[in-house]
Amino acid sequence: MRKKIVAGNWKMNTDLNSGLELAKAVSEKVKSIDLDTNKFGLIIATPFTHLYAVSQVIDSSKVQLSAQNIADNEKGAFTGETSASMIKSVGATATLLGHSERRAFYGETSETLTKKLKIALDHNLLPIFCIGEVLEEREAEKHFEVVKSQIDEVLFNLDVDDFKKVIIAYEPVWAIGTGKVASPEQAQEIHAFIRKIVSEKFGAEVAENTTILYGGSCSPSNAAGLFSQPDIDGGLIGGASLKPDDFIELLKIRMQE
Ligand code: 13P
Repeated sequence: MRKKIVAGNWKMNTDLNSGLELAKAVSEKVKSIDLDTNKFGLIIATPFTHLYAVSQVIDSSKVQLSAQNIADNEKGAFTGETSASMIKSVGATATLLGHSERRAFYGETSETLTKKLKIALDHNLLPIFCIGEVLEEREAEKHFEVVKSQIDEVLFNLDVDDFKKVIIAYEPVWAIGTGKVASPEQAQEIHAFIRKIVSEKFGAEVAENTTILYGGSCSPSNAAGLFSQPDIDGGLIGGASLKPDDFIELLKIRMQE
């Protein structure tokens, strides 16, 4: 059965000291939770600069450490980039890929993401592949089409064994950092659609086992409605992941629903 996951994307927040405090608080709070890690996962995606220090203070049997991005090349003359082997060497075992902020502000395309995804898989990193439509696309009722092409152009080029290693995060861009959350029905509708196209491509069993997270203003006040939907397997959390109590509350809600 697919894993239910709560993942925190810290984005470009915290300096080393405050990031370490946050990571310690999360790791401390999760101690008291009887977490069956075959069924549930807790992930934090910190800035690159924090990865090593955070890896030293978290209980890695309960909290998985992720980067927010990797370079689209293995190594070499790419000033300012950070490679998959670098993040692995400082303790990360996962990476976000194709977050909407990277697509919008740093020009990440399906072509770049295809390269990054291959590199992530080559390095045995867990890829959390982000998709989602912007407001104009939702208003024009193009959201199904948009997420289908984002998946088609990258994930559906994988062979089935590699596809099974990927987590999908659906994040409607209009709900990110806006406080405007997709309704459970809106989110369920598109998650079910994503699972359907995965099933058409790779079969029902693979689709059943694919973890699909929701992201976009997810917080303890709205998570129960979202996480109780049959095709919403957890959350990719921005703002609320910076507050340890809220973040752990989200895990608890995920475990209850
Ligand atoms: P918020 O939870 O702050 O809306 O951010 C969502 C997100 O982009 C997580 O990757």
